[in-house]
Amino acid sequence: MRFELKNLKVAVLGATGMVGQRYATMLSGHPFFKLTTLTGNSSVGKIYRDAVHWVDHNPIPDEVANMEIVSTNPNNVDADLVFSPLPSDAARTIEPMFADAGIPVISEASTYRMDSDVPLIVPEVNPDHLEIISTQKRNYNREGFIVTGPNCTTSGLVMVLKPLYENLGVKRAIVTTMQALSGAGYQGVPSLSIIDNVIPYIKNEEEKIASETLKMLGTRNNETIEEGSLGVSATCNRVPTIDGHLETLYLESDKEIPIESAREALSSFKGIPQELKLPTAPREPIIICNEVDRPQPRLDRLSGSIPGMSVVVGRIREGLDNKSLRLTLLTHNTIRGAAGNAILIAELLVAKGMIGSR
Ligand code: COA
Ligand code: MG
Repeated sequence: MRFELKNLKVAVLGATGMVGQRYATMLSGHPFFKLTTLTGNSSVGKIYRDAVHWVDHNPIPDEVANMEIVSTNPNNVDADLVFSPLPSDAARTIEPMFADAGIPVISEASTYRMDSDVPLIVPEVNPDHLEIISTQKRNYNREGFIVTGPNCTTSGLVMVLKPLYENLGVKRAIVTTMQALSGAGYQGVPSLSIIDNVIPYIKNEEEKIASETLKMLGTRNNETIEEGSLGVSATCNRVPTIDGHLETLYLESDKEIPIESAREALSSFKGIPQELKLPTAPREPIIICNEVDRPQPRLDRLSGSIPGMSVVVGRIREGLDNKSLRLTLLTHNTIRGAAGNAILIAELLVAKGMIGSR
């Protein structure tokens, strides 16, 4: 399927942050979207280049560098769609203001993820959940809407779980995460707390991984989503890497899990974004590496045809018996875990005709 090239106007809210910067890079030259507005708070009136603490090794795209930051208010934003990497407390009031003004919002915040009429989407995993947007529009009597992407740790995990849950009867998932610093924001974890250290606690993260996974593996039944039936137990750690969340996963099924079947289910996993050849869809959503000591964050986080959009899996092996499986997975937290996943959601909305010029 081909789409005519669109020039939908998009804005990024809170554009100076760690995820905001990813949007600036990934939206530059995008075939569907034209980035027209950047919003902020303390940096309103400054030009982006002067306001941002840029961390990517690629320079700020020229078309973004000289844009003036405006305040985060729908009256200042002329856009067909907004991407919101705002912190969750800010998202609570700001995102509905945009939706009420008729502007679709793709949010990275946890605030509305678990609302029953808000889709929580990884486009390869549960694209049909977007249909509940119509319920949300009706409930709030508005033309705009909020769609969310999962927590950065959940996004890669749910991509790996989906084919194993559906094909191999996986019933329990026990996951331990080693999460990068960028997920906490620029000021997030002070250097003296994390250098030479691991912090074995990330507030609210373990609960989010469990509840978001069950929602995304759930089945849509007209206007509701029935949760998937999987036991999920997570333990989360902050480690001194910059980008790329590493997770070890232990899975149990009530039937045998042949290793070759698991490898095949993972490597052949594809979704609607690949079928539609959406611009940000990686050719292989899951990449399997065979080296005994991979994936590694520094070496593997930008793997794949769209760097950072694939989950990299390795160390696939049997657990305590042949009904269990162990593996390690790596997700680029600000790309597949945040901005990249949100852009892919937006591309899917365009492909489905669910957003257009206002
Ligand atoms: N109204 C308007 N702007 C607001 C705001 C509010 N209530 N709250 C924050 N912002 C602005 C900040 O002030 C800043 O703009 P400024 O430079 O003009 O002042 C901008 O949003 C970026 O916020 P900042 O806190 O500097 O970003 P950060 O890089 O430290 O943190 C995240 C980034 C991603 C951690 C944070 O935005 C967040 O929690 N997002 C939601 C979840 C998420 O995406 N997690 C990341 C997974 S990897
Ligand atoms: Mg900042």
